[in-house]
Amino acid sequence: MTEPLHEVLLDQAREAAGTAYAPYSDFHVGAVAVADDGRVFTGANVENSAYGATICAEANAISTAAAAGVRKIDAVAVACLDTGECYPCGNCRQVMREFNVERVIVQEPNGSYRVHTLTELLPHAFGPDQLSGGG
Ligand code: THU
Repeated sequence: MTEPLHEVLLDQAREAAGTAYAPYSDFHVGAVAVADDGRVFTGANVENSAYGATICAEANAISTAAAAGVRKIDAVAVACLDTGECYPCGNCRQVMREFNVERVIVQEPNGSYRVHTLTELLPHAFGPDQLSGGG
């Protein structure tokens, strides 16, 4: 299935990937977070010579949204400059869970993409509800 909005978001994510700082992996990732009020925030991966201090593209986009006051993100699109697939890492899936992301649009090889629910990508997730009186 193709959907024009998904393709626009992936194009924006790919454009953001062009701003990645990735001198160590040379893997340039871009992400777009679509807030519930329609605002769109982009991010790219920013690596560090102390590798563990690297920030992923999705975490950057979501942090930028959160810093602008967003508390609910409807969708995240992820793309990379490579032509292969660009699935979010486990940590980014958890970051998405915090802001209730519903759909994740992921670049797949040769210009294709797939749309997943976050529940598919992170089943039985730990989330904010567990810390707010649920136990
Ligand atoms: N990376 C992301 O930006 N997002 C992910 O979900 C997976 C990995 C980045 C981190 C690092 O700069 C490079 O890709 C290689 O791991």
